[in-house]
Amino acid sequence: MEEAVQIPDSSLPVGNKLLLVASNISHAFDYTLFEHVDLSIHQRETIAVLGVSGSGKSTLLHILSSLLKPNKGRVIFDKGYLYEQSDRELLRIRREAFGIIFQSHYLFKGFTALENLEVASIVANRKIDYKLLEHLKIEQNLAQNVSELSGGQQQRVSIARVLIKKPKIIFADEPTGNLDRGTADEVMKVLIHYTKQNDGGLFVVTHDEKIAAMCDTVYRLQDKRLQPVIL
Ligand SMILES: Nc1ncnc2c1ncn2[C@@H]1O[C@H](COP(=O)(O)OP(=O)(O)OP(=O)(O)O)[C@@H](O)[C@H]1O
Ligand SMILES: [Mg+2]
Repeated sequence: MEEAVQIPDSSLPVGNKLLLVASNISHAFDYTLFEHVDLSIHQRETIAVLGVSGSGKSTLLHILSSLLKPNKGRVIFDKGYLYEQSDRELLRIRREAFGIIFQSHYLFKGFTALENLEVASIVANRKIDYKLLEHLKIEQNLAQNVSELSGGQQQRVSIARVLIKKPKIIFADEPTGNLDRGTADEVMKVLIHYTKQNDGGLFVVTHDEKIAAMCDTVYRLQDKRLQPVIL
């Protein structure tokens, strides 16, 4: 990468609008994963959740991002209760307002990286931002078939695909899991930069304390609770 991404002032001005509120969330599969989870995401706020494998990080991300109704509690987005919306409205929110970066990425195999991005661009009716692809260091890989890309390259293409649609809130599940330290830091900077520039929100789950420390607010999922931590 020739040009480092500059992160704008990361301090949170007082009065930043709320984007999403989760209140008193509990969820269990075979056993209780977590209880009484309260969390808010403000405009321009970046949040990280740490926790060991199996602590429920992905489950919490799915609950906040409209994919899984919690056993207990509510998620409020855009003045409405997320899980009281119609399926159609939920789909609209998921398509237009939320950008979900999954732990295992789902690119269209058999297509090139660029074709994958073009699909996202057409669906969202947004132009591909080539500067973004440069920052993600994938501009050299656009003509390659996705199956020829390394895990880390595929991860970056899937991040680009999500950002192209200009979501209000990005939910990212281990977005830097397959990346070396340097590339991981750069990718996080891209996500943070996007959030600050677009008055969005970023919710990242990770097991990597260095990645978490780049965010404004950090929590740890531990002992069935979401606890604030200072790194
Ligand atoms: N759909 C499901 N049905 C049953 N159990 C599930 C389901 N999804 C997750 N679990 C269980 O819930 C627990 C937490 O899973 P989750 O994926 O949220 O953890 P995680 O913190 O994201 O872990 P990792 O760091 O390994 O990704 C695990 O024991 C998992 O087996
Ligand atoms: Mg997970």
